[in-house]
Amino acid sequence: MKLFKSSAALKSRVMKDTMLAVRMHGYGGPEVLRFEEALRPKPGVGEILVRVHAAGVNPIDWKIREGYLKQAVEYALPLIPGWDYSGVVEATGPGSDRFEEGDEVFGRSDITLDGSYAEYMVVKETDAAFKPRSVDHVHAAAVPLAALTAWQSLFDASQLENGQSVLIHAAAGGVGHFAVQLAKWCGAHVIGTGSAANQEFLRELGVDEPVDYQATRFEDVAHDVDIVLDTMGGDTQKRSWNVLKKGGILVSIVNPPSQHEAETNGVRQAFVRGQSNSSQLAEIANLVDNAELMAVVETVLPLSEARRAQELSQAGHTRGKIVLLVI
Ligand SMILES: NC(=O)c1ccc[n+]([C@@H]2O[C@H](COP(=O)([O-])OP(=O)(O)OC[C@H]3O[C@@H](n4cnc5c(N)ncnc54)[C@H](OP(=O)(O)O)[C@@H]3O)[C@@H](O)[C@H]2O)c1
Repeated sequence: MKLFKSSAALKSRVMKDTMLAVRMHGYGGPEVLRFEEALRPKPGVGEILVRVHAAGVNPIDWKIREGYLKQAVEYALPLIPGWDYSGVVEATGPGSDRFEEGDEVFGRSDITLDGSYAEYMVVKETDAAFKPRSVDHVHAAAVPLAALTAWQSLFDASQLENGQSVLIHAAAGGVGHFAVQLAKWCGAHVIGTGSAANQEFLRELGVDEPVDYQATRFEDVAHDVDIVLDTMGGDTQKRSWNVLKKGGILVSIVNPPSQHEAETNGVRQAFVRGQSNSSQLAEIANLVDNAELMAVVETVLPLSEARRAQELSQAGHTRGKIVLLVI
């Protein structure tokens, strides 16, 4: 494939004011994504320019492409999707002193701004942390958004404690596979749902009682649990109220649960909208370096295949994570 259409385009890239990126030119199917040249961003006050090595793919990437957040966020199109990254600091903006050129960093960036499906991205230095040293960029880029969401659901919203029981839905998915490992690290008893094909994987992750949701109703296995982590919404959320013990908590990352239902069942509810948090990310990086947490990366694709990566994510059966390799 010819990347540069003219000698002017080649000169521009040599002069380093452009980069290759995947950009979304409208809302719709994967066809609105184009792999093309774009202007290289410049870091502003408190920001760093990251040379992206790998970009983690999350369901929010295709949801934004489909227009799910159109009413809530006025996106400037074309938009570079992807909000998980791992890479190297190329430059620092004015007043930015947490990192130096050459530092290896990773993080989850602001989903209202251009993201990581690109050779370069600008992030707030407060959204970045040092990349875990023991893993490559692909495995680092798989971590931030999903692991932070699992952390904030289990530890901030639910205050999970040693000895408690947790039901984790879609335990083999991006958020689920981190939630299982974090809950086991904390000393919890874990029940996790997944299809027949993922039962052995769930055991390897540490799930005490894997439930094949195609063969068994989870309500027949889970009783009196302290916490349900709902990653599915809909009918799964509705059926989850009954498995909680009095005073337990249903925490969803998909649909805000009903306060009325919570009161009727004598339990609590919370909705978690994951946030960037560099100190939690640093703790997560330590867990990775201490081999207490790992990202399972099912699929690695080149940046040019971002459409395919989003199609795979949208199919809803990712085991662990999908990552785009940028360099
Ligand atoms: N609020 C937030 O901040 C936040 C943050 C992250 C994600 N989310 C949302 O949370 C959801 C999960 O995210 P994710 O990244 O974990 O997604 P994901 O990686 O795409 O989840 C895929 C997993 O879902 C499992 N699954 C599919 N249908 C299932 C069912 N009926 N019961 C149990 N498991 C089932 C699949 O297992 P099988 O192949 O075995 O079926 C697969 O392993 C998405 O809707 C995402 O947008 C919200």
